[in-house]
Amino acid sequence: MVERYQNKVIIVGCGPGLKAYISPKALYNVKKADVLVGSRRLLKLFSDVDAEKIVLEKNYRVLVNRIADWSSTKQVVVLVSGDPCFFSYSRLIIKKLGRESCIIIPGISSIQLAFAAIGESWDDAYFISLHGRDTEYAQLMKSVREHCKVGILTDHKNTPAFIARQLLAGGIRDRRMFVCENLSLPKERILETDLTSAVNIKTNGAIVVIIKRE
Ligand SMILES: C[S@@+](CC[C@H](N)C(=O)[O-])C[C@H]1O[C@@H](n2cnc3c(N)ncnc32)[C@H](O)[C@@H]1O
Repeated sequence: MVERYQNKVIIVGCGPGLKAYISPKALYNVKKADVLVGSRRLLKLFSDVDAEKIVLEKNYRVLVNRIADWSSTKQVVVLVSGDPCFFSYSRLIIKKLGRESCIIIPGISSIQLAFAAIGESWDDAYFISLHGRDTEYAQLMKSVREHCKVGILTDHKNTPAFIARQLLAGGIRDRRMFVCENLSLPKERILETDLTSAVNIKTNGAIVVIIKRE
């Protein structure tokens, strides 16, 4: 029998995309859902789960209130990419419900997979997210100047080419750029380049960039 957590929302870290990276504990918890919330891509991984499926897209601010309402009568499970405690939608849910009302199941972060893909440790790295953020460029420059390795979450605007142009415009040159694209997914690609060449890179999909001092 599946144990339920009354009134608690379960937030499940689903890793970088490949189902094999999702932990057995996470899979077990997803099965408890009466209501399963997640992006189309993540919901597709759980087409066999018999729950009401709610697609998370641009509605994420409205949805957080609905998640709170549903949780008083139903078991809500929210699927998030990577790890829920690393630049994640879960922050909004925890802020709304309070941490005592959430159960968080960790996942493998895209950042972890990116560092594994390039064979580098991440214990000495600094991290920033440019995902949906257009105001973090001063922070980007500062972090790249101050740290030997910086892991960056990107989006369709803040692409590797755009980041390379920002760094060069700020006078930063002596760095390697690693572009980790669609990690664990069929179109996975890992590229290593210098910043000057990076301004011409064409990319598509989910990308982590790692900047390393030469
Ligand atoms: C909203 S953030 C979520 C990060 C997530 N919590 C984590 O731990 O990976 C989304 C960003 O994560 C990165 N990302 C997620 N999945 C990825 C993948 N399979 N390959 C490369 N980057 C990925 C991309 O930078 C994407 O824009």
